[in-house]
Amino acid sequence: MILVTGGAGFIGGNFVLDWLKEPKAEGIVNLDKLTYAGNLATLDSVRNDPRHVFVQGDIGDHALVSRLLKEHQPRAIINFAAESHVDRSIHGPAEFVQTNIDGTFNLLECGRAYWNDLDEVKKAAFRFHHVSTDEVYGSLSASDPAFTETNPYEPNSPYSASKAASDHLVRAWFHTYGFPVLTSNCSNNYGPYHFPEKLIPLVILNALNGKPLPIYGDGQQVRDWLFVSDHCSAIREVLAKGKLGETYNIGGWNEKANIDVVKTICQILDGLRPRADGKSYAEQITFVKDRLGHDRRYAIDASKIARELDWKPKETFDSGIQKTVQWYLDNPVWVEGVVSGSYRDWLQKQYN
Ligand code: NAD
Ligand code: TYD
Repeated sequence: MILVTGGAGFIGGNFVLDWLKEPKAEGIVNLDKLTYAGNLATLDSVRNDPRHVFVQGDIGDHALVSRLLKEHQPRAIINFAAESHVDRSIHGPAEFVQTNIDGTFNLLECGRAYWNDLDEVKKAAFRFHHVSTDEVYGSLSASDPAFTETNPYEPNSPYSASKAASDHLVRAWFHTYGFPVLTSNCSNNYGPYHFPEKLIPLVILNALNGKPLPIYGDGQQVRDWLFVSDHCSAIREVLAKGKLGETYNIGGWNEKANIDVVKTICQILDGLRPRADGKSYAEQITFVKDRLGHDRRYAIDASKIARELDWKPKETFDSGIQKTVQWYLDNPVWVEGVVSGSYRDWLQKQYN
C-alpha cells in the first residue's frame, strides 16, 4: 500500500486515478478531510476498486494517522493535503497554518514513529514524499533566471509561507532523524477536476456562463503551467528514483502571462462552443483590482529532474489547454457538483 493525503483534491485526485490505471499498482489509502476543495465525485471511477480505501479525516489527527499506518503498513506516504488557494490565504490564513504546517508536522511525527518500528528491509524502502510549490521561492523579475532547487526561500503570501514552513520541517526531519524524505516543488498545474476558484477553470466556466473573466491588475503576471498528469508522472519518478533528502523542481517550460492564458482559452472556446451572438468570449475579459502582494513571475528550471531522473512533461501548453477546455465541456455533471453554495459565497466575497 501507499498512503496518499489530499487524494480527493485536484492533484491528489488525478494522482490516485492515474496510479490505479496501472492494473498491477499497489493499493492506496486515501486520507482526505473533504474540505470545500475535496470532492469524492472526482474518485467516482474508483469507487468500487478494492485497491482504493478512502478515509475521511485530518492529517493533523495523531490517533487517526497512527492507526492508518499501523493497519495498512504503507511503504510510502505522499502528502498532497493542503490549503492551496492564495486568495483564500489572504482572507483567512489560520487554516493554512493549521493544515500546511501543523498537519505536515503531525504526518512527519506519525510517519517517523511508524518507520522507526519497521524491520530493516522495510525501513530502507520507506519514503515520505512531500508535494510542494514553486511559490516558496518568491517572485522573479522578467530578466531573472528560472528557480533552481538552490534558490533561497522568499515566500510572499500566507499560502506560500505555510508551504515553505512545511518544506523546512520535512528537510529537518531528514537531517535530524534520518527520516527518508523527498520533496518536489512544482509550478502551476491545470487540467481535469480543477476546482473553479483557480484561474483556468474559473475562466472556462465563467466564459460559458456569460460572466466576466476577472484579470487581476494588468494581467502581465507570469506563471509556468504544467498539465496535471505530467505532475503526477513526475511524482511517480521522484518516488521511485529520487535521492533521499533531495528536492526536485517540476515544471512545464511553459511561461505564460495571465492575459495570454485567458485569451487562449477564449479562442479555444470560440472554436468549440461559439457564443450565440457570434462574438468572441474575449469580450468578457474584465480587469479587476490586483491581488494583495501579487507575485509577478514564477518560472521553474526543471533540468535537475530531467537530468537525474529522466523526466520530461508530455504535454505542451497548447495540447494540455485544449484537453482541459474539452474536459470541462464534456463533464457538466462534475462541474455542477462542485459549484456548491459555499463556492458561490466565495465568488461573491472575492469578486464583488
Ligand atoms: P486542492 O486544494 O485541490 O486539494 C487539497 C486537498 O487536501 C483537498 O481534497 C482537501 O480536502 C484536502 N485537505 C485539506 N486540508 C486537509 C487536512 N487537514 N487533512 C486532510 N486533507 C486535507 O489542492 P491541489 O491543487 O490538489 O494541491 C495539492 C498539493 O499540491 C498541495 O500541497 C499544493 O500546495 C501543491 N501544489 C499545487 C499546485 C497547483 O497548481 N494546484 C502547484 C504546486 C504544488
Ligand atoms: P491561481 O490560479 O489562483 O494560482 P496561483 O495564485 O497559485 O498562481 O492564479 C494564477 C494567476 O492568475 C495568478 O497570477 C493570479 C491570477 N488570477 C487572475 O488574474 N484572476 C483570477 O480570477 C484568479 C483566480 C487568478
